Amino acid sequence: MAADVDKRTPERERRNGHNGQKSPGPGSWFRRGMWTLLVVCGVPLVALGIKHYQDSQLLKRHEEAVRALGTEGLFLFSSLDTDHDLHLSPEEFKPIAEKLTGISAPVDVEEDVADDPNGETLVLEAKMQPLLLDSMTKSRDGFLGVSHSSLSGLRSWTSPAVPSSSFPASQFRVFLPPKGRGEVGDTWWLIPSELNIFTGYLPNNRYHPPTPRGKEVLIHSLLSMFHPRPFIKSRFAPQGTVACIRAKSDFYYDVVFRIHAEFQLNDVPNFPFWFTPGQFTGNIVLSKDASHVRHFRLHVPSNRSLNVDMEWLYGASESSNMEVDIGYLPQLELQSTGPSTPSVIVDEEGNVIDSRHGGGEPIQFVFEEIHWTSEISEEEALRRLEVTFYPFKKVPYLPFAEAFERAAAEKKLVHSILLWGALDDQSWSGRTLRETVLESSPVLALLNQSFVSSWSLVRELENMQNPALSEKARLHLEKYSFPVEMLVALPNGTIVHHINANYFLDQTAMKPEDEGATFSFSGAFEDPSTSTYISFLKEGLEKAKDYVSQ
Ligand SMILES: *[C@@H]1O[C@H](CO)[C@@H](O)[C@H](O)[C@H]1NC(C)=O
Ligand SMILES: *[C@@H]1O[C@H](CO)[C@@H](O)[C@H](O)[C@H]1NC(C)=O
Ligand SMILES: *[C@@H]1O[C@H](CO)[C@@H](O)[C@H](O)[C@H]1NC(C)=O
Repeated sequence: MAADVDKRTPERERRNGHNGQKSPGPGSWFRRGMWTLLVVCGVPLVALGIKHYQDSQLLKRHEEAVRALGTEGLFLFSSLDTDHDLHLSPEEFKPIAEKLTGISAPVDVEEDVADDPNGETLVLEAKMQPLLLDSMTKSRDGFLGVSHSSLSGLRSWTSPAVPSSSFPASQFRVFLPPKGRGEVGDTWWLIPSELNIFTGYLPNNRYHPPTPRGKEVLIHSLLSMFHPRPFIKSRFAPQGTVACIRAKSDFYYDVVFRIHAEFQLNDVPNFPFWFTPGQFTGNIVLSKDASHVRHFRLHVPSNRSLNVDMEWLYGASESSNMEVDIGYLPQLELQSTGPSTPSVIVDEEGNVIDSRHGGGEPIQFVFEEIHWTSEISEEEALRRLEVTFYPFKKVPYLPFAEAFERAAAEKKLVHSILLWGALDDQSWSGRTLRETVLESSPVLALLNQSFVSSWSLVRELENMQNPALSEKARLHLEKYSFPVEMLVALPNGTIVHHINANYFLDQTAMKPEDEGATFSFSGAFEDPSTSTYISFLKEGLEKAKDYVSQ
């Protein structure tokens, strides 16, 4: 596959357009979105007048800033200016202060509950096998044209920043379900996504994560064991952390979770390099009062051939050229060394024994066995997390082989998506699709009724070993063009219809003043991409009829 990354695909351009929220020039996506919405909401034109005045003030300040700092300097300044008002508040200046003084300000310990000094302690160990550089597409031509400084953060990150760390068990209370969510199967946002039509995407030109607050503090500390600059809120959707109760007993919960976060591997003076694992997932077994943690594990799944999306900038502005690539990270994992244990124990005579530093025999703890009174399988819990992140998964997406079996059994067609990066991870190739058409309810209904859905990575089909499937894989690949192809296939593998995602996006590209409608946030807009996708599926159904009646 000639998968040199084409930075000028419509997808990429659209996305850069979305990123343009910071750009003060007229015609950025954000402005257009606002315009449409304000008109839709019937807000008086006065509001637009004020907005226009503010924008021209901002534009003036921007020009002054470029004069004072130059583009490179302004780039660094903007990476700190998180609210984009062209002024640095003390909070925004913090990363620099910390760098220069070497002193970090104390983090906000969560809410009201202070950690009990006599509480239990959990020890976590971090393990890592660095990204395999030769799994990256760019390695095929020896990273031709990729500057050394771009990859420096990646090349030098070969082991966890903090191999082992102890935590008060009570800090893990952030994994407890909120009020009213204590049943097996209940799912909730532990760190809610803040991305929506108003925020668009978060900017690329940042080096330092924002100060974590509340429940974010623990997640930030955990991911900091891997690398010092975790951004627990990824720039692109899906963003945030979702948890689900897999099992419960009288005293314990088993909570399964999934985190969409990323790392900034480069620091000034190099340009940003974003390292975005497909997801972090894991589980925690903890007592209902969070005084005891029996087990904790967090990892990046590595059972797919590619599991990390990487993006790096080649210039000092938000609209600079960006390179993208994907690769394989064999291991990134945190695991508890054992259950949490009390640091202080009182013996029968009331003497305090330090369980870790006391001389003599090490103390053996015996833990009661946990009998789950109700539970669901891990797969089911993971599925619930997935559907919370991706409404498009309300219809199942089966693996390639299963999809054809099911389609044959149910006399349906296969709706198949073939992509360069995975549809359900952070890769940009799937984003445009799943954030719009695939989760719209008319498309979901039609897929549910007449198709069996599946998505595959190009690389997985290229390496298909199973002889019964290699013919079907070949027929798929024959119709593939970069980056994403949508196909309709008969159960025997014949492709009856297909459309390339770039072509599809060109077809559905809207006039700028309509752009607010691309986001199916209310379902009230019948957006053109939904109707185009419906037509594509219906054409597939029609064409399949011709085959069958031959
Ligand atoms: C990877 O592992 C997860 C969890 O065990 C499983 O649900 C998923 O189907 C696996 N994926 C592949 C491609 O094997
Ligand atoms: C799919 O169809 C089944 C049976 O017709 C129905 O029970 C289910 O709710 C549908 N799911 C979606 C996501 O439309
Ligand atoms: C699949 O079936 C259709 C219609 O029955 C037929 O025209 C086509 O050649 C078959 N394709 C393969 C790959 O067997």
